[in-house]
Amino acid sequence: NYEAKVDSLMRLMTLQEKIGQTVMYSGHFDQTGPIIKTDNKKHIKEGNVGAMLNAHTVEGTTNMQKLAVENTRLGIPLLFGYDVIHGFRTIFPINLGLSASWDLKMVEESSRIAAEEASAEGIHWTFAPMIDVSREPRWGRISEGAGEDVYLNNEIAKAYVRGFQGDDLTKTNTILACAKHYIAYGAAQAGRDYHTTNMGEGELRNTYLPPFKAAIDAGVETVMSAFNELNGVPTSGSKALLRDVLRDEMGFEGFVVSDYTSINEMIPHGFAKDSIDAARIGMNAGVDMDMMGEIYRLHLKKLVEDGKVEEAVINEACRKILLAKFKLGLFDDPYRYIDQQREDTTKYQQRYLDKAQEIAAASSVLLQNKNNTLPLSKNSKSIAFIGPLVKDEAHILGNWAAKGNRSGKAISVFEGIQDYLKPNQILYAKGCEILSDDDSGFEEAIRVSNQANEIVLVMGEDHHMSGEAASRTDLKIPGIQPQLIKKIREANPNKKITLIIMNGRPLNLSEEVDLVDAILEIWFPGTMGGAATADLLFGKVNPSGKLTVTFPRNVGQVPIYYNMKNTGRPIPENNPKQDYKSNYIDVPNSPLFVFGHGISYTNFKYSDLKLSSEKLTFSNSIEASVEVTNSGNYDGHEVVQLYIRDKVGSITRPVKELKGFEKIFLKKGETKTVTFTISVEDLKFYNSDMMYGVEPGEFEIAIAPSSDFKFKHLFNLND
Ligand code: IFM
Repeated sequence: NYEAKVDSLMRLMTLQEKIGQTVMYSGHFDQTGPIIKTDNKKHIKEGNVGAMLNAHTVEGTTNMQKLAVENTRLGIPLLFGYDVIHGFRTIFPINLGLSASWDLKMVEESSRIAAEEASAEGIHWTFAPMIDVSREPRWGRISEGAGEDVYLNNEIAKAYVRGFQGDDLTKTNTILACAKHYIAYGAAQAGRDYHTTNMGEGELRNTYLPPFKAAIDAGVETVMSAFNELNGVPTSGSKALLRDVLRDEMGFEGFVVSDYTSINEMIPHGFAKDSIDAARIGMNAGVDMDMMGEIYRLHLKKLVEDGKVEEAVINEACRKILLAKFKLGLFDDPYRYIDQQREDTTKYQQRYLDKAQEIAAASSVLLQNKNNTLPLSKNSKSIAFIGPLVKDEAHILGNWAAKGNRSGKAISVFEGIQDYLKPNQILYAKGCEILSDDDSGFEEAIRVSNQANEIVLVMGEDHHMSGEAASRTDLKIPGIQPQLIKKIREANPNKKITLIIMNGRPLNLSEEVDLVDAILEIWFPGTMGGAATADLLFGKVNPSGKLTVTFPRNVGQVPIYYNMKNTGRPIPENNPKQDYKSNYIDVPNSPLFVFGHGISYTNFKYSDLKLSSEKLTFSNSIEASVEVTNSGNYDGHEVVQLYIRDKVGSITRPVKELKGFEKIFLKKGETKTVTFTISVEDLKFYNSDMMYGVEPGEFEIAIAPSSDFKFKHLFNLND
């Protein structure tokens, strides 16, 4: 009974010691924000620190834990947190890429492995998963999430929490998860990081809150309050959001940690007059732990003495933090996560690397494959590999790759293809850098392309171009890479060209779709990315990823997402350019690649959609099924997607909404029936009175390979 243990410990604690539990400092191994100079050792010894950020390794965590346990009056152990975002040592594809696998088991497995590696280096807590829905490709952090859809984000949020936390937190290979960033951080205006968000309560409840509810239902132990303001109130200072919605309404019982100095940032936001005010607002709003801001340590005691913060509020924050430490077993043994042998033997285990390779392949999305350009043949006479990312072992890990080794450990695409081709079949030229105007390498690249039978370009973004504080206003492949693509096509009008792109966001590939034959989106695929890419290129693995975010034709279409509203003047199907309709005069409304898009080396045919009944009732569900046939020449996986449209609502409803999916495997020639169960639960939404419920009426339904389809079937829900 942890509660009783926490109570008896807290009876011994002074106010100052309780405040100490609400303070987090950094181990100074890495910095992800402004450094607040502080004498960490002194504060730990004095019992003024509850948690450390970025502390890791047996050596690092032992030293720090000793400071707390051996020097403080009550010997309360520290909690060690780290950004374990898409792997710790073994790096998996960036989260946006991983979501494109539509494979919840893989999400869970990759976070389980990340937890095993991180916990073996003394880490108790990750600041993941990021479950911010985002429809903003300009925003660099879109790379850290699961894309634009609510349902998919919900399912993925649960899978991450299961993976990190496992089924028993007392096991030393599990770590606390943290659902972040609460809330609406992914809706930053114009995609600029940390920027303002504004939205109605309906949008907040129907789109941005559900993944947090899903994570809470999956038992997430911690939540991070965000940097952004929402409708004029910084989210790290919003009692309404943090206490009323997160705790009282959604039932969150763990503790809330601020983002890095987000409590202090209420001062420049213009919401707090000074740091004392910010500390008062943050604690009263419900931020239990101050990450790096140093203002809880400095001001909370005085605020209690002055009656501006009730001691009961501090007690509650401290209680929840201590409870997490009890759950991890740190009071039984503060060093239980620290084990040299485990640290030495856990990282980069072969089974982790194998899994990383499998997952990277499943996360890649074949966007285009004209004339069956892919897969390539191992017997090809010569293939030219051209581009700044062919031999790369650093960017391939993506941003925020924890302790993944960026030199020497990751498998580049060049290394990966060595398993398939002999040296005399491979030609190589770098051509240019990712970000530079120097085109002196073009000549050699063109010469090499001329010598080859087929051409593979490996291009994309620098890994610093996505992630935190990495917003872009231009979504094109950066630098002079697009020019190189053009030149290579001009020099080789009849050769098959494949473009492999590594990037952390949807890119504008409008020109490239016409210049190259095949496009394989590999995101930043992680440690085994090059090996996985080679498996796909040569057909050992059949591509099966599908986009979880829309790829626009150009940046002017943003925001563009599949589940938009219809407007009062939707474009007529037979005349999309009609005047005075909701369209553009320069580009079509449709994106370049839709949500859910992704092709395979084989073909899947959908037929015979059947509903068990066209009448849904409040008490009975109905079943929708479809036959899916692999009619092509390769075995393969297909992501079968269920979409519904609620035709009329008391608030307008999206033109389509994902309500289910299943990733199936079909041998060539095989047919499977895929069945989804639909109940009123799937149709609920927050109406204009902020009541959550379902409204009777007519619903359209489709089961499709992507979000690009027209509804043909209906069912009704009667009163
Ligand atoms: O976890 C992160 C967060 O996502 C952004 N700011 C810094 C935190 C800790 O590194």
